[in-house]
Amino acid sequence: MSDAIAYELVGDIAVLAAQNPPVNALGEPVRTGLMEGIERAEMDGAKAVMIYGEGATYFAGADIREFGKPPKGPALPDVCDRIEASPLIVVSSMHGTALGGGLEVALSSHYRIAVPKARVGLPEVLIGIMPGAGGTQRLPRLIGSEKSIDVITTGRQVGAKEALELGILDRVEDGDPREIGLAYTKELLEKGAERRAVSEMPSPPGIDFDAAYEAVLQKGRGQLSPAVALRGVQAAAELPFKEGMKRERELFMELMNTDQRQGLIHAFFSERAVSKLPELKGVEPRPVSQIGVIGGGTMGAGIATSALLAGLSVTMLEMSPEAAEAARGRIEGNLGGALKRGKISQAQFEEITQKALTLTTDYEGLKDVDLVIEAVFEEMDVKKDVFRKLDSVCKPGAVLATNTSYLNVDEIAAVTKRPEDVIGLHYFSPAHVMKLLEIVVADKTAIDVVATGFALGKRMGKISVRAGVCDGFIGNRILATYRTAADHMILDGASPYQIDKALEAFGFAMGPFAVADLAGLDIGWAVRKRKRAEGLDPNARDSSYADKLCEAGHFGQKTGKGYYDYSAGAKARVPNPEVMPLIEAERKEQGITPKDFTDEEIVRRYMAAMVNESAKVVGEGIARRPLDVDMTLLFGYGFPRYYGGPLKWADIQGLDGLLADIKRYAEEDPHFWQPAPLLEELVAEGRTFDDLNKAAG
Ligand code: 3HC
Repeated sequence: MSDAIAYELVGDIAVLAAQNPPVNALGEPVRTGLMEGIERAEMDGAKAVMIYGEGATYFAGADIREFGKPPKGPALPDVCDRIEASPLIVVSSMHGTALGGGLEVALSSHYRIAVPKARVGLPEVLIGIMPGAGGTQRLPRLIGSEKSIDVITTGRQVGAKEALELGILDRVEDGDPREIGLAYTKELLEKGAERRAVSEMPSPPGIDFDAAYEAVLQKGRGQLSPAVALRGVQAAAELPFKEGMKRERELFMELMNTDQRQGLIHAFFSERAVSKLPELKGVEPRPVSQIGVIGGGTMGAGIATSALLAGLSVTMLEMSPEAAEAARGRIEGNLGGALKRGKISQAQFEEITQKALTLTTDYEGLKDVDLVIEAVFEEMDVKKDVFRKLDSVCKPGAVLATNTSYLNVDEIAAVTKRPEDVIGLHYFSPAHVMKLLEIVVADKTAIDVVATGFALGKRMGKISVRAGVCDGFIGNRILATYRTAADHMILDGASPYQIDKALEAFGFAMGPFAVADLAGLDIGWAVRKRKRAEGLDPNARDSSYADKLCEAGHFGQKTGKGYYDYSAGAKARVPNPEVMPLIEAERKEQGITPKDFTDEEIVRRYMAAMVNESAKVVGEGIARRPLDVDMTLLFGYGFPRYYGGPLKWADIQGLDGLLADIKRYAEEDPHFWQPAPLLEELVAEGRTFDDLNKAAG
């Protein structure tokens, strides 16, 4: 028998125990073991079979690593059919997460029991596919079309209590999964319970599937899998079980062959790989329980909120008692939001605000903290001043972190007598919501300080990405480049509104100009001023229309006007009529005859600029692997998850075509469009960015 399923006869009951850590994924040995186990139970004359998982969980799904490889062993739908067809009573006892193929095995069992903490679900759409072992056919027969559509198209995990109410589970009971499973099976045998096959239950009543399809498609913003999965549920309502299964298979294979499946699975594994760094293996992070935050603006308050929600004590330093009170207000407002969404209880809210949060206006208040993050004004001299003070008050071994988004962390570290304790922790606003944390490792940062950054990120629930020092690190450096490409297109004839529309159709939640309005146009203005003061390359194209918009007091949403006019509300984006005349005047001044851009051309140029700069960031070692860039853009910049990230997208598009585009654009503007050496190298060698990910382990 396959080692992945242990077989044991306990009286009349054959017990099949999954032994495939860490998550009992249904890989080939597990599927073979289940087949063999059922057959053996029947041969042994058992009266029932009880299936459970050893370790942390029942089966958490099909083995995603097998996707795209030649199939081996029995297919999961056949395993499920075999389980259900057994004349013995089959019971599944669940704990941990019974997901995807895992729940499909449970739905093929005749009875289902779970511990109260168990969660069940069909999350396949989240990785670009859909249930493929009867999930779309059996679940609707149990809980109806509408509820199945909710569970399947959101991919959400359903808690045991709700699953019981919905009818997915027959019983919820606390205890060891083996023990409760055995007791329940015995009870069923004693009361003469019969085999109960979900596939033999009647089809559920239908609903207006076309309307539901349109609604799901719209909500997916370009993601196909939820809408296609819904057609599977429709088949359950409209076709006999066997034909429904055939339809499910067709739809499943359709999705399996999409680029979106590749992108979403890349995202799944990359978000787990991103914070695994070989050099951190065995490195003990420094203990952190109290942190300091300097500056209680939106960013500092967000960081403090995130730390408080992670169970840390926070001392917030502000310049004056009034500013400290305002910071407290912001933090309490954020925590109030968490309370409203049920993330914390009223008692926790009070505990945090009364005990875990301290405000101070004196640097001495930071003398005992284990780690301090400054989120003060983005100017080198201001930052240096803060770090000199921290150096003089903080205890030895305290980690001194800067939340700078552009500035040189080596230079900041150099003003202290302990540069090895200095690191960049770059959060994204609002910091208690956004998942990305760039951990910027400076020249002299000690390895255990890096480990401390990653440990803190994990505790705060962030996706932490290691970045090297350069202007803008990974994310903002790439952003600056693709934004520049958009600005050039505006000079050459596109409008901000066409660009936003084209990129939103591509899949971004918001186009770059709507994002700029949200972030505040003054931020870009300050950066442009700094860069001009440092001296622009004479070959670089420049424009001043956006500065004029700022000079007129239009900073975006916060002032009511930017590229758009928000007087009718933040959502009612109406083009600001002052913008196009400024752009037209600029074109005239620069002697540019505007040309038309197609939406496709806009996306192509924007993405080419993003990929080219990303390749430079990887080539220079600022990001270690292409997947580090992909996760940065996914979690910090709204890049559509179903593309997997810009470099996964580039791999799928074909690197040679992208390089050819870049070279063609370079004929017009050789300064901006300098091909990344890494991109040229990969094209010459016929390799992909993902090959580099794989080579990095
Ligand atoms: N296949 C292969 N590996 C998997 C896996 C799967 N389905 N699920 C998790 N893993 C791996 C992870 O990559 C990770 O590996 P690593 O240690 O090498 O990085 C390890 O298992 C542990 O996973 P997590 O770090 O995510 O552990 P957590 O405890 O945080 O979460 C989980 C556990 C909730 C099960 C989460 O891993 C998860 O959501 N997994 C995916 C579940 C899923 O999508 N199932 C459906 C699969 S598709 C399917 O079943 C098709 C069918 O309908 C035919």
